[in-house]
Amino acid sequence: MKKDPISPPRHIAIIMDGNGRWAKQQGWPRIKGHERGAESVRAVVRGCREAGVEYLTLYAFSVENWIRPRDEIGGLMKLLRLFLENNEHELHENQIRLRVIGRLGDLPMLIQRRLKKVMAATASYTKGHLILALSYGGRAELVDAMRQIGHKIKDGSLDPDAIDDQTIVQHLYAPDVPDPDLMIRTSGEMRLSNFLLWQLSYAELYVTDVFWPDFREQHLYEAIEAYKARHRRFGDVE
Ligand code: IPE
Ligand code: IPE
Ligand code: MG
Repeated sequence: MKKDPISPPRHIAIIMDGNGRWAKQQGWPRIKGHERGAESVRAVVRGCREAGVEYLTLYAFSVENWIRPRDEIGGLMKLLRLFLENNEHELHENQIRLRVIGRLGDLPMLIQRRLKKVMAATASYTKGHLILALSYGGRAELVDAMRQIGHKIKDGSLDPDAIDDQTIVQHLYAPDVPDPDLMIRTSGEMRLSNFLLWQLSYAELYVTDVFWPDFREQHLYEAIEAYKARHRRFGDVE
């Protein structure tokens, strides 16, 4: 049975890439690209609300990104803190729940505290879900899941022969979030860069050459239109 998606994707995941190249093109330091990228985040959150997309996952910082220069990491952490400060009220106004996937414990303590505070304050909202992937890696997520599963086998609470897809899902960072229907990557690279390796199994992929700092609602709507024209087969014929 083929499935032509007439409704908008329920869950969009985005690899927000190209901030550095955008800045370089303007002759500015990389951090300027990250700064403007925060505006793009605001735009896609608005766009998802308008288009009726329930879940938005944004790849904001990967486990691999820790190898970047200290200055750049410091700048990104500062921007994250400012983003939380400046946008918390909009989450409340629009009843959007904030969540984080990734190794939260790797982040500076201050950022962890702020994130936990906003997550707790928005935990009861159901109108929209904004999921930030921070110190996130698809392999790290599976490693973390396997460790938990291993402990359960060891203490006798899980039978190895009972492990199925659902067992794995239950040990991911956000087990209740449906898999993304559409994955967008900006700035042209045709790779996953360790993003949501399990969850993207059947996602439709959309790559645009637009750099993340230039990405606005209109680009999001173009991606949604492209998604609607796809035929999702999920392994079936036709
Ligand atoms: C994406 O932009 C932001 C992060 C990975 C934090 P980049 O910083 O990767 O920008 P490019 O890919 O170097 O242009
Ligand atoms: C992926 O972008 C990570 C984020 C967008 C946070 P990168 O810029 O780190 O990916 P590569 O290095 O081009 O694969
Ligand atoms: Mg990049």
